[in-house]
Formats: sequence, structure tokens, C-alpha cells
Amino acid sequence: MASEIDIRAGRTDDAEAIRSMVEALARETVGDDQQVCDAGAIRRYGFGPEKAFESVVAEREGKIVAAMLMFDDFSSWRGAKGVYVLDIYIAPEARGRGLGRRLIARAAQWGRARGASYVRLSVDQKNIHAINFYEAIGFREGAHDRVFSLEGDAFDEIDAG
Ligand SMILES: CC(C)(COP(=O)(O)OP(=O)(O)OC[C@H]1O[C@@H](n2cnc3c(N)ncnc32)[C@H](O)[C@@H]1OP(=O)(O)O)[C@@H](O)C(=O)NCCC(=O)NCCS
Repeated sequence: MASEIDIRAGRTDDAEAIRSMVEALARETVGDDQQVCDAGAIRRYGFGPEKAFESVVAEREGKIVAAMLMFDDFSSWRGAKGVYVLDIYIAPEARGRGLGRRLIARAAQWGRARGASYVRLSVDQKNIHAINFYEAIGFREGAHDRVFSLEGDAFDEIDAG
């Protein structure tokens, strides 16, 4: 099946399909009540003048069966540019055929072309399947990192003086 699957850069008209992949990822990894963005946000930040991420999709017979979102990263410890993979989701019927590996390889290829030398991502510690996948293709867990976010009132009200 993997050989019949075409991997390509996402396009504006893929925005709804990409959103539904992100929603499926949220549903599987967090739960049914997890909200995700609408297709407008995918269009706005994935393709317009405010572009904030790059998208890659996998298509089989005209149907999107996987999506990955990524953006530029930088590591001051390494003194190097990298790629941050934000989301990767393969539809259940397309799993176990090397597509996840091909998408991560695509992220590495995209990064190499921009002078990057690593790929970084975070994964829910309960997502054992994804952790096993990442380890199988060569990722290694960082020894120090925990992920924090500043948002909502805390983001709005913090004052740079
Ligand atoms: C995790 C996911 C991306 C893997 O994609 P995939 O296309 O099924 O993986 P591949 O077929 O490319 O597998 C690549 C390697 O990982 C291994 N692997 C994949 N899934 C695995 C699992 N659940 N357990 C153990 N190993 C696994 C494969 O055996 C293969 O190893 P090999 O090359 O040594 O044989 C896919 O299952 C998925 O989308 N899951 C739901 C969403 C998700 O959790 N995304 C990650 C969020 S951080």
C-alpha cells in the first residue's frame, strides 16, 4: 500500500483534510473533548502571508491518509538549525507500512535543504505506540525537557515593563 501513496507538500485546498487529521490525532491521543483549530487557521497560518508552519500530506487515490505539520527550530546548545515536528498522523488503515518513517524522512529532507541538522518533537508520555515508533526510527528521548506553555491571562498580562 505504501508504494501507492504519494507524499507531497500540503496545499490551501487540503486545509479541511489537514484539520480533520489534527482532530483525529487529538481524539486518539487526548480524548473526544479536545478542541482543535478550524480549517481557517490552517489556511491562514499554513499558506498565507502569515505562514507559520509547513504541511506535508500523504494521498492515496485522491484521499488524504496522513498529514504532518512542522516548522523551523533552533538549538543554542547545538548551535544549529533544526526542524520541529508539531503533528504527525497516519489514518489507521495506512499504518504499519512505513508511511510514518517516510514522513519523518521528509521532515529531515526539508530541514537539510534549509541547513538543519536535527528533528525535534514532543510526545505525550502515555502515547506508548508513538514512543515506540519514534525509537524504532532512531529518535532518542531528551534527558531534561518538560514542555511548558504560557497562555491565556498569563500570556496577556505578563508585562515587559
Ligand atoms: C505513530 C504513527 C505516526 C506511526 O506511523 P506508521 O506509518 O504506522 O509507522 P511506520 O510503518 O513508518 O513504522 C516505522 C517503524 O516504527 C515501528 N512502529 C510503528 N508503530 C509502532 C508501534 N505502535 N509499536 C512499535 N513499533 C512501531 C515499526 O515497526 C517500524 O519499525 P521497523 O522499520 O524497524 O520495522 C502512527 O501510528 C500514527 O499516526 N498514530 C496515531 C497518531 C500519533 O500518535 N501520532 C504521534 C503523535 S506525537
